[in-house]
Amino acid sequence: MEIRNICVLGAGLMGNGIAQVCAQAGYQVSLRDIEQRFVDNGMNMIRKNLGRDVEKGKKTQGEMDSILSRIKPTLDLKDAAGDADVVVEVVIEIMEVKRKVFTELEGIVPAHCLFFSNTSGLSITEMAAATKRPDRFIGTHFFNPVPVMRLLEIIRGYQTSDETLEIAKEWGKKIGKEVIVVKEAPAFAVNRLLCSMINEAFYALDEGIASAEDIDKGMVLGCNHPIGPLALADMVGNDTLLHVMEGLYRELGDKYRPAPLLRKLVRAGCYGRKTGKGVYDYSKK
Ligand code: CAA
Repeated sequence: MEIRNICVLGAGLMGNGIAQVCAQAGYQVSLRDIEQRFVDNGMNMIRKNLGRDVEKGKKTQGEMDSILSRIKPTLDLKDAAGDADVVVEVVIEIMEVKRKVFTELEGIVPAHCLFFSNTSGLSITEMAAATKRPDRFIGTHFFNPVPVMRLLEIIRGYQTSDETLEIAKEWGKKIGKEVIVVKEAPAFAVNRLLCSMINEAFYALDEGIASAEDIDKGMVLGCNHPIGPLALADMVGNDTLLHVMEGLYRELGDKYRPAPLLRKLVRAGCYGRKTGKGVYDYSKK
């Protein structure tokens, strides 16, 4: 099966990055969200990232224009997915919302279309069961910032076919990613470890073990991490992080209990960089 048209559902932090790397690889992409401002923000982010590459001489203006010309922003689901060979779902991390989106898509997409979900940790099998194509359903988990991070974590659901897995692996390579294939499990391989560490950093901060700055400095200088866990939480989004931890806690028990401080920040709307405030304050930067 040849992939030509890709529909990315969700133009937020991850969705716009996925649309960008797909368009860079030569695919025709439709980028769909439910409000014009989300679509506009997504396209602006792509323009900003590509513009930075042009300034650095990594791309020409002509290349940037041609990548942008392959991305069609839209609010209309039928327009976005009607001729899709693949739909990459990047909507909010709530199982019922995702299942509803896939059920709706069933009446729109061509019969051969594959469904890829970029969930950070929800069950691929459970989502696939809401569709008539569980064999053509797979998890494709990207990392933030998508154009920079080299990994694509691929997750097989219970009924995912060998053929779907092979297509997803090939696609991952074509869009410039290194692929790992993991078994379905809560939060998969990377987020199970990464989010647990970040959650622990929130406990440490709440217990007054060190300041946020020093916890981050400790992990950067002591462990060679590119960025401290609390700064990373603000980058990933504390809301997303809490969704992942809730899932781990629900499925694997108390060891993964979300830190009360993380919950408090999310309740206060302090999601991180995207809202201007998280563990750190970005409003004046
Ligand atoms: N979009 C595109 N490119 C970006 C970018 C963004 N948002 N942010 C930085 N970059 C690029 C820069 O342009 C720069 O490119 P060049 O090498 O071509 O100059 C490069 O990335 C390095 O950026 P900087 O020098 O400005 O800053 P840095 O050295 O601090 O690197 C970083 C930034 C790459 C993000 C680095 O901090 C890092 O690797 N952080 C950890 C990221 C991480 O762990 N991601 C996983 C999050 S978990 C997740 O996503 C999964 C989930 O489901 C929760």
